[in-house]
Amino acid sequence: MVAVALSKARELGIGVAACASTGNLANATAALAAAAGMPCLVLMPDDVEPAKVMATSVYGAQVVAVRGTYDDVNRLCSEISDRHGWGFVNVNLRPYYGEGSKSVGYEIAEQLGWRLPAHVVVPMAGGSLLTKVAKAFAELSDLELVARAQPRLHGAQPAGCAPIAAMVIEGRDTLIPVARPRTIARSLAVGDPGDGHYARQAIVASGGHAAAPDDEEIIAAVRLLAETEGIFAEPGAAVSVAALRRLVAQGRIDGEGPVVACITGQGLKTADALAGRLPAPALIEPRLAAFEGLLAGALRGLV
Ligand SMILES: Cc1ncc(COP(=O)(O)O)c(C=O)c1O
Repeated sequence: MVAVALSKARELGIGVAACASTGNLANATAALAAAAGMPCLVLMPDDVEPAKVMATSVYGAQVVAVRGTYDDVNRLCSEISDRHGWGFVNVNLRPYYGEGSKSVGYEIAEQLGWRLPAHVVVPMAGGSLLTKVAKAFAELSDLELVARAQPRLHGAQPAGCAPIAAMVIEGRDTLIPVARPRTIARSLAVGDPGDGHYARQAIVASGGHAAAPDDEEIIAAVRLLAETEGIFAEPGAAVSVAALRRLVAQGRIDGEGPVVACITGQGLKTADALAGRLPAPALIEPRLAAFEGLLAGALRGLV
């Protein structure tokens, strides 16, 4: 998504790459700006995880932490882009960034052997990604690259910041912004989502639904995904698995046809989410007897 936006920025003669971010977009914008030889400015809320700040600064981007929520950052970035004309990937370049997100939908079809899934669960922050996955599927059908089908799109948001999911679950079409998001899935803490209405429309039109699991369910999903699939996701990504569990329990997703849960972020960037929740390594002297003692006690399932 950032690659499309920055390519367009260069075509338009814009010299500076920038973005408002909850962390992940910052990493991508900084990396691709470095590759493109563009100076990069990133604005983030001041509570973004340290690893995400590091994975932005390392590319030489200049990072500004803003005292406030993501919505405060976003508003400020609109003003800065108006004044300076820099290329804010998700503000004044947003249509191109959105088109780039369609690659997620294309890759889902490709990885399923060029067919569409029956269900897709997508983590939502501002709501853009879900709408672009829907658009990608429609394009592939129109071009007859896949058999026409209507995948059901389901939105996943954390309970502590679920303005789009709440619209779907409560069956209303007005968005009630969340003034103070409180969730372990900080990358999805967007209280006033720019594409909220479009995401709701795409979900409803597809016959899908939404779920808003709480922090404990999200952490359980992080561990389930790691222990059963070998994939270490951040809370903002594993929310799709937690939502999937809810939707299956509600009977909204059954075993018919491929079911895809989008895993959109890497767990090492949010290590603090698991602090104190995993067993510490056993510590022994470098002697076989010490190891055997451990085998007879603390180690499980090996013999
Ligand atoms: C981990 C993760 N998943 C999904 C998204 C999707 O965001 P949006 O709904 O704004 O496209 C984001 C955006 O920040 C994210 O960080």
